[in-house]
Amino acid sequence: MTVSFGHRRPMLSPSILNADFACLGSIVQDLERAGADALHLDVMDGRFVPNISFGIPIVSAVKRSTRLPLDVHLMIVEPERYLDAFAEAGATALTVHVEATVHLHRTVSAIKELGLLAGVALNPATPLAAIEEILPFVDLVLVMTVNPGFGGQTLIPAMLAKIARLRRTIDEARLPCLLSVDGGVKLSNLEAVVRAGADIVVTGSALFEDDASPGERLREFRQRLAAIGEHASPH
Ligand code: DX5
Ligand code: ZN
Repeated sequence: MTVSFGHRRPMLSPSILNADFACLGSIVQDLERAGADALHLDVMDGRFVPNISFGIPIVSAVKRSTRLPLDVHLMIVEPERYLDAFAEAGATALTVHVEATVHLHRTVSAIKELGLLAGVALNPATPLAAIEEILPFVDLVLVMTVNPGFGGQTLIPAMLAKIARLRRTIDEARLPCLLSVDGGVKLSNLEAVVRAGADIVVTGSALFEDDASPGERLREFRQRLAAIGEHASPH
């Protein structure tokens, strides 16, 4: 089985973390109609991060509501214990934190053996050197631009340089891996994130902070990306 996120660059992967979970099915469908490329699902265990969000039943409920790829971000310790369960629930990609698993190569290999895309995520304080050896084996790298645990935080500006450095490393080595950016992305900083080199832009609270539907907000992101694309050179 070959899985992929499709070919559009950059892609938009909305996070439902700040959604009203009583209306999850209709929100997911609204985001799909608005042109989401994937859905970003933030799983938190109250140990790796100070917050608890949701787990396997919500991932499978989202899977039943949409045909979009599911971009599952595991903010949990020892994620290797749950890979089968998230695969069974319908994940397309499983992203684990390099800080949360001791045998990262084994964990990445196990994700790929399940037929899924394998991602690694880096906290803001974790240097890019931590993924130097694993980079050729992964399908995506998720650069956290906030400390994980909560939606609605402010993007740490110093992370833009980290994204740009990773972009250069990926391009120079001609690696196929996607560069995803997660945390505090708003319309106001979208251009900076894309110009730094993001292939996948995750956005959460910006879609849920007022009365507009998340789909309407996502369309604004899509329009802004189109406007940026007319001026940006491809990376
Ligand atoms: C933070 C999560 C993010 C978050 C994004 O721990 O990993 O995916 O939901 O939400 P915003 O865009 O509000 O930072
Ligand atoms: Zn996330």
